[in-house]
Amino acid sequence: MTIQHIAIIMDGNGRWATKRKRPRTFGHQAGVKTVRSSIETCVKLGVPNLTLFAFSSENWSRPAKEVQRLMDLFMRSLSKETPELLKQGVQQNFIGDLSQFSPKLQQKMSDVAAMHPEKFVMNLNIAVNYGGKWDLAQAAQKLCADVREQNISVEHINESTFGSYLSLADQPPVDLLIRTGGEHRISNFLLWQIAYAEIFFEDVLWPDFNADELLRVIDQFHSRERRFGQTSEQVNCKEN
Ligand code: FPP
Repeated sequence: MTIQHIAIIMDGNGRWATKRKRPRTFGHQAGVKTVRSSIETCVKLGVPNLTLFAFSSENWSRPAKEVQRLMDLFMRSLSKETPELLKQGVQQNFIGDLSQFSPKLQQKMSDVAAMHPEKFVMNLNIAVNYGGKWDLAQAAQKLCADVREQNISVEHINESTFGSYLSLADQPPVDLLIRTGGEHRISNFLLWQIAYAEIFFEDVLWPDFNADELLRVIDQFHSRERRFGQTSEQVNCKEN
């Protein structure tokens, strides 16, 4: 089965740096290299959608200096990486409540999202100030506004119509969700979109999650049986 969508919770930058007696920001900088190699691997494999959790709605509560450094790194990375990403056929999209960022960063994200590669290969969705609960709440808000304006009737609300109000509505659901850094939780990342994702919790810290590690996880993903509620016999019968 080909993979349509990979999502990654990139965890472990801080611990990676602390282990080396360096400031946490050093870990985030090292993390950018892994972001680059993961994108390259997905492009090479022809995975059409990759979603990265870069900054959660809860990350604002980190020390102000770390938040500021992350914003600076994000801004710099967007300027530096975008030309090469466009060459590779990568379309960048940003999901989350973007209104909380500085006007300069908001403008940057809007400019970058408006740059389309000549030949599309992959959507790179960067989740910033994103929370799965926020996504569901904003979808409900928009849907209710549409009901009020009589664009949709209550009877027509179903999984498909509700889903169309969520972030990434135009992309297939997540097949494979990876979290590095050893923690076994979703941390309010995509909720609806991972309903049937295969989840891999990896102990390796994000800066050490190189292309070989990603290929190993993808290999393991292919050996899992995805039943979507059916029995093993039904699934195997369909495949034969
Ligand atoms: C989690 O590690 C990582 C983050 C909160 C930031 C992730 C950002 C990057 C990898 C760099 C910028 C990204 C882009 C897309 C340019 P942590 O700090 O929570 O690590 P810890 O659990 O060891 O403390």
